Formats: sequence, structure tokens, C-alpha cells
Amino acid sequence: MSLAANDTSLPNDLAPFWMPFTANRQFKSNPRLFVEAEGMHYTTSDGRKVLDGTAGLWCCNAGHRRRPIIEAVQKQVETLDFAPTFQAGHPLSFEFASRLTQMAEGYDQVFFTNSGSEAVDTALKIALAYQRAIGQGTRTRLIGRERGYHGVGFGGISVGGIVANRKQFGTLLNGVDHLPHTHDIAHNAYTKGQPEWGVHLADELERIVALHDASTIAAVIVEPVAGSTGVLIPPQGYLKRLREICDKHGILLIFDEVITGFGRLGASFAHDYFGVKPDLYTTAKGITNAVVPMGAVFCRPGIYDAFMDAPENSIELFHGYTYSGHPLACAAGLATMDLYKDEGLFERAADLAPYWQDAIHSLKGEPHVIDIRNLGMVGAIEMEPIPGKPTARAFDAFLKAYEAGLLTRTTGDIIALSPPLIIEKPQIDFIVDTVRDVLKTVH
Ligand SMILES: Cc1ncc(COP(=O)(O)O)c(C=O)c1O
Repeated sequence: MSLAANDTSLPNDLAPFWMPFTANRQFKSNPRLFVEAEGMHYTTSDGRKVLDGTAGLWCCNAGHRRRPIIEAVQKQVETLDFAPTFQAGHPLSFEFASRLTQMAEGYDQVFFTNSGSEAVDTALKIALAYQRAIGQGTRTRLIGRERGYHGVGFGGISVGGIVANRKQFGTLLNGVDHLPHTHDIAHNAYTKGQPEWGVHLADELERIVALHDASTIAAVIVEPVAGSTGVLIPPQGYLKRLREICDKHGILLIFDEVITGFGRLGASFAHDYFGVKPDLYTTAKGITNAVVPMGAVFCRPGIYDAFMDAPENSIELFHGYTYSGHPLACAAGLATMDLYKDEGLFERAADLAPYWQDAIHSLKGEPHVIDIRNLGMVGAIEMEPIPGKPTARAFDAFLKAYEAGLLTRTTGDIIALSPPLIIEKPQIDFIVDTVRDVLKTVH
């Protein structure tokens, strides 16, 4: 399909780009293109402003086109464009790792990747290799959770629990089992913050351990707040209970903090917010405010050390990416951490969270709504599906919101919202008013 032939800012052929996680034919018949961004807004190719209700894809926590990050990347690319980090290095990767570990109390090392998916596969591999390094080599099983999203690598989709993301791709990793998800509208509909009901669902881990035997299980991985599946808030006490069961059986606990890291809940990381420390956790997205792709796995003390018994000239972990610790990503990341700190954005998110909660819960009673959930600066409105047409209503809502100047994210029949942390209260009002109008007109 061709776009306006006389507008040179637009692509003239949409076919070659096979778009990720997109209804390609629908999109290409009526494209939604962003050509600029600033602060809280995108500008579309037809010159409209669209408020970013999703921080891009949960990643632009400090908003768009922030000067300090741009300048840091520009300066870096003029100085050192690339340097390998295999058997060589460059100062910025060490500086950024130190900055991150200072921020992450109780974690001593970070392993850099280029994305959340790679961070997940890296964390799973470190967990397996660690168990082997400490003489627990029979621990090869990985436990995920139904409805979990851990990116799109084979490790991630194996421990993940979103059926559509798994069913096209064969038998995946073997030796994986899944906890039940924690979503229960009958008990928890319209809960503000963490539901009271559901801690017992963590005890399912005991059942899985009894089935397979602890000596076969390396790690459990969960999102502290499940995002991509439609925002599932952990029941009170649930994460702590998982931690206790993992400790009891020598199982590593991994949190996937790709969306919850860097301020989304009003704390540096979700594990700070919940007061439950995993052994390893993954991050990406907000680590560079999405300006340069990057991910990182954080390791608690003792994990890296367990690999350091190997002879001194040998490589301890046969894993890494060409771009692990890329200079431009590190420059962007350092500037991003400064920005978060200088503008107090995590505290700002915590301060705004009650206003956000009241605002999105004011949508209770609007047409089709069957549940509303929130935590920190995350929110979700679940709608009743159109009978026989799951997801159709949410997609219609997405398109109508976009036309009305608001970018949302939908999954299943759920509208998910996660705005940049620089959002102002009137912009929260705009989000809620727009969603309210959309709910009244949606199919
Ligand atoms: C919890 C979680 N893990 C992993 C990923 C994958 O990250 P990426 O798309 O950068 O590979 C995502 C992406 O949304 C995510 O939400």
C-alpha cells in the first residue's frame, strides 16, 4: 500500500517491514505513524498530537526527547562508537554497572543485554549455570506462571504463559512447569492496589515441588506485577510466600522487572516496593528511557562469586552479546539515571499514584467495564468481551482512543495504561475522560 506520494517524510511502501505483534494488514490499510515526540506527546504523520498513555511500550519513563539523554548519546557517538566487551572493554560499561548496583541495594553484579527478552534468557541461563557451579547440577527445571510474559526468546516463551505467544512455536524448552496465574475477578474485582484474596496461590509452588522434587528445580520466574497479560497485581503476601518456599527448597527466585523497574511503582524496583528480594532480576526498557536498546540482569551477592573458582584464564560464563554494554546504551543509561534522580521521578510516581488510582477507578460503572486494577503508575480497565469475538472490543477501544488523541495498549479485552512518570494531573484527567468517552461509544 502506498502513502501520500508527494510527502517525502512518509514511507512509500509499507509491505517490506513485517511489523512485530501487529495486525499487519489492518495497520497497513490505515497506518498510524508517529513522526515526532516531545515530553508526554507524540505527533502523528497527519499532524495530530497524541498523549502517550503507555510510555511508548512501558519504556519512556522520563517522557520523550529528553535533552540530557540525547546530548549524552551524541557526545558518546562522537568519542567511542563501539568497543567489544569480550576480553576487552571500555570504561562506561563499568561505570554504568557500578551506578546500577549502587541504586540496587543488595545486588552486586549486572550482566548487560540488549532487550528484556535477552535479559530473561540470560537470567534463566545464569540460574542453571549457577546451580551447576554450586554442585546442584540436577536442578534443571524452570518454573514460570500462567499468563506470564517474559519476552519472546525460547526461554522466555517456555516459562511464559501467554498461549498465543507459545502455540506457533513447537515444543519449546522441556522441563518447564507453571504456577497458576493470580487473576480472579469473582474475588478481586475493583480492588485498589493489592488484592487481599489469593496468597494461597503461591502454595501451588509446594505442589509443583512435590511433583518434580526440589532437587530437579533450578528457578522460579515471575513478573512481580504481570504487565503484558493485562496488569495482574500480586495478592498481598503472595511474593513473600514464593520467596519463603524457594528458600525452603534451594530454588532461585527470579523477578522479571522489565516493566516494573525504574520507577513504575514509585520505587526504584518492584522488589523495593514489595520488600521481597529475588536472587536475580531482569530489567530493560526504562534503563535507558528507551533511547538506546538495553537490558540488564541484576545478581545478588554470591552468584557471580560461585563462577570464580574456575582457573583464572578461563572464561567463567559462556554467554554474552556483541552489544552487551554498548557504549551508546551505557551513555544513555547514565544520563537516564541522572534524570530520574535530578527530577525525583520515582518519588513523583509515588506521589501521583493515589490521584491515578482515584482517576481510573472513577470509570467503574461505565459500559462494558468488569474490573479496574492499579498499582503505582500502572492501571488497567477490563471489559467484557463481545461474545464469540475476544479482543475485538479492546481493539476498537484502542482505535477510538487513538483517534481521540490518546495512545493506549490493549491485550485481551483489557486497556492497559502506564504513562511516563512526568505526567501532570490534568493529563491524567485527559486520559480518564478520553477512556470514558471511548467506553460509551465502543462496540
Ligand atoms: C515482563 C517483561 N519481560 C520481558 C519483556 C521483553 O522485553 P523486550 O520486548 O525488550 O524483549 C517484556 C516486554 O514487554 C516484559 O514486559
